[in-house]
Amino acid sequence: MSKRGQEVRVVPDDDALAHAAAELFTTCFRNAVASHNRFTVAVSGGSTPRRLYALLGLPPYCEGLDWNALHLFWVDERCVPPGHTESNYTLVRDTLLSRVPVPERNVHRIRGEEGPERAASLYEKELKTFFAASEVPVFDLILLGVGEDGHIASIFPGSPATRETTQLVMPVYRDPPELNRVTMTLRVLNNAGQIAFLVAGDRKQNVLHDILSGKHTRTSPAGLVQAMHGKLSWLLDERAAKKLRL
Ligand code: 6PG
Repeated sequence: MSKRGQEVRVVPDDDALAHAAAELFTTCFRNAVASHNRFTVAVSGGSTPRRLYALLGLPPYCEGLDWNALHLFWVDERCVPPGHTESNYTLVRDTLLSRVPVPERNVHRIRGEEGPERAASLYEKELKTFFAASEVPVFDLILLGVGEDGHIASIFPGSPATRETTQLVMPVYRDPPELNRVTMTLRVLNNAGQIAFLVAGDRKQNVLHDILSGKHTRTSPAGLVQAMHGKLSWLLDERAAKKLRL
């Protein structure tokens, strides 16, 4: 189904959601490698994509893909060291990277353990170096989740990151400071070739209804996501989509 220029797809449950996302991921992967010999993807943390990352490391999804061509980035990270239970890098390392042969140099993690400012500045430099050919990185795929408050990556309602138009990456200060984070900005997210939201569960019904009906687009970071040049897809399970009129 297409809504306001966005593709919205509803599947029965969170398992079907993970399979639909794995299809989308592997299709983007193959298309990108066929077109420009590499696949650049930025992934989210949170609980929703965990099953997707695990599936991607298993047949049939892991088969026939050129894992050397994958360059993996993160849309956000908590300021914790790798190995920490809250680390988005660790989530993907344990579920996917432990199973597929991605070269270490292709894994572009955010160095959360360096603290918010330094980690953001290092990642900004890394993005500028890697995507030197374009002013703003053009990822082949960006995977996003949505919080119940409408946050995406670590862009929270009302935070400076919602208004940022220059930086590619920003520090995010939370209380207590152990919860500080680093996030890509909308400048990068909106520039991707394909943006895909993965949303599941009853708790997301209200926020999804508000975003997809165009309400609160100015206060909800998810409502600020627009595919400037690419495609925007919403993959939802039936519970999350319950209040939508599609
Ligand atoms: C993170 C995220 C965050 C997440 C949403 C949704 O690191 O936590 O990148 O933006 O995608 O909070 O999380 P759930 O999938 O757990 O609902």
